[in-house]
Amino acid sequence: MSEPRGRTDLLKPSFEPHAPAQPLGHSLLHGPPRAQHIVVVLGVGPGLGLDVARIFAAQGYAVAILSRTKARLDAWAVEVSLASRVLRVAPARPLSLAFGCDVLDSAAIIQAVKDIQAAWPERKIGTCVYNASVRKRGPFLEQRPEQVRDGVQGSIFAGFAFLQSVIGAMVQHNNGAGGSVLVTGATSSTRGREGFAGFAASKSGLRAICQSVAREFGPQNIHVAHIIVDGVIESQTMLDRFDFPKGSRFPDGAALLSPEMAKTWLFLAQQRPNAWTFEMDLRPAKEHF
Ligand SMILES: NC(=O)c1ccc[n+]([C@@H]2O[C@H](COP(=O)([O-])OP(=O)(O)OC[C@H]3O[C@@H](n4cnc5c(N)ncnc54)[C@H](OP(=O)(O)O)[C@@H]3O)[C@@H](O)[C@H]2O)c1
Repeated sequence: MSEPRGRTDLLKPSFEPHAPAQPLGHSLLHGPPRAQHIVVVLGVGPGLGLDVARIFAAQGYAVAILSRTKARLDAWAVEVSLASRVLRVAPARPLSLAFGCDVLDSAAIIQAVKDIQAAWPERKIGTCVYNASVRKRGPFLEQRPEQVRDGVQGSIFAGFAFLQSVIGAMVQHNNGAGGSVLVTGATSSTRGREGFAGFAASKSGLRAICQSVAREFGPQNIHVAHIIVDGVIESQTMLDRFDFPKGSRFPDGAALLSPEMAKTWLFLAQQRPNAWTFEMDLRPAKEHF
């Protein structure tokens, strides 16, 4: 039988046994060992970003949370640190720290990644989540260049700066142990629609960056995955936008719930290099797609 083309460099015999497969959810995160591992979540608001940070903290990982509102993040960092103690980990330093960072400023992203490394010098950046986005939607003929520019900065330039910084750190410091980079997309990542021209351009650009980087760094043990969020995430902002009465919620299956969504980020970061997902989409059951 002839070998598949392009795989002759890969398909060489090895006589080492494979590491045993763990039951679902029981694997450590891909990358440095837990005691040396930093999880970075950029774009932490009260919804998805915070629930992603919480789910990693609950596994005993050190978690850096980043967005513009430092005071709010500081309070969340205390709560996220407490989630880590559920596993009775005795940390020498706090297990969650907050960093102010505006993705409209690429230099601030690069500096924040350096600050994170300086804050936990005994650890290495192992899992990174890019969750921020700058959504300026509106009728095409009314879109102003600066709105489009902010969207492109918030996804493409900021995504570039973040991925370059964290992947650069993984290559330099992780001694081949690699890590995971998980990027939050939206319906607009693969489908433009009326009112979303600028946002779709920026989100699809971010997805294209992820595809390229995943191919370039997979062989270096760095797992890049893109998650398409195809639906509305339930939040007070969204309930208010749809004029829902106070205290009400969306019916089950009509909107995404971030604590449920966060399990997907954990699953992706726990994947071993013998079975990696590049892309997943998430939507509520009743979503039209
Ligand atoms: N919400 C939805 O229904 C929905 C639907 C599809 C896809 N998504 C995607 O899901 C991700 C999370 O969205 P989310 O709405 O649920 O938000 P979230 O996870 O609750 O928080 C995102 C946070 O990002 C921060 N952020 C916004 N602009 C920023 C900037 N310029 N620099 C730094 N941080 C910034 C904000 O915090 P600060 O104000 O403190 O900076 C915001 O609270 C996004 O990538 C979005 O495209 C959301």
